[in-house]
Amino acid sequence: MTPFEMAKLHSLSGDHTRPWSEIEYKNLLDTNTSRLFYTKNGFLIGRVIDQDAEILNVIIHPDYRRLGKASKLIGTFEKEAKDSGSLRCFLEVAESNNSAKKLYSALGYLKVGQRNNYYKFVDGRKDDAVILSKEI
Ligand SMILES: CC(C)(COP(=O)(O)OP(=O)(O)OC[C@H]1O[C@@H](n2cnc3c(N)ncnc32)[C@H](O)[C@@H]1OP(=O)(O)O)[C@@H](O)C(=O)NCCC(=O)NCCS
Repeated sequence: MTPFEMAKLHSLSGDHTRPWSEIEYKNLLDTNTSRLFYTKNGFLIGRVIDQDAEILNVIIHPDYRRLGKASKLIGTFEKEAKDSGSLRCFLEVAESNNSAKKLYSALGYLKVGQRNNYYKFVDGRKDDAVILSKEI
């Protein structure tokens, strides 16, 4: 999957924050701690740094949701992170993002922190970031 395709999927995702651009995805992929896993209709990008892994984004095309695709990508990333020596996986999710929060809860992620007013949506609204973590 190319940075262009990732940015396109992001723009279709319904994410209320500013979609990441092709250049931003390219720069992320050029970083040697980054890991990308993808299927035809979605991707996960994360990073693995020693004992801590982090999911940066998981996006599945709206027409292909609730088919277990995100769960599978997350499982693959957790295995890669564990095999690389990570003990925990972190991520940030908007407080209002109920589908993502349900997904991570179903996979065993627990709240470990919160950043108030962390996200600024394109319509000007703000939202808190919830920080989740899972032992892997
Ligand atoms: C969040 C997202 C990645 C989930 O992808 P997905 O492939 O549909 O997720 P899965 O099919 O693996 O879902 C697994 C479980 O998570 C929960 N879940 C996922 N989406 C849900 C929803 N919209 N409502 C309620 N529960 C949901 C359910 O428990 C689901 O199991 P079930 O379908 O058997 O009930 C997808 O909705 C998406 O791309 N959203 C926009 C981008 C985004 O918010 N990414 C997360 C950034 S942190």
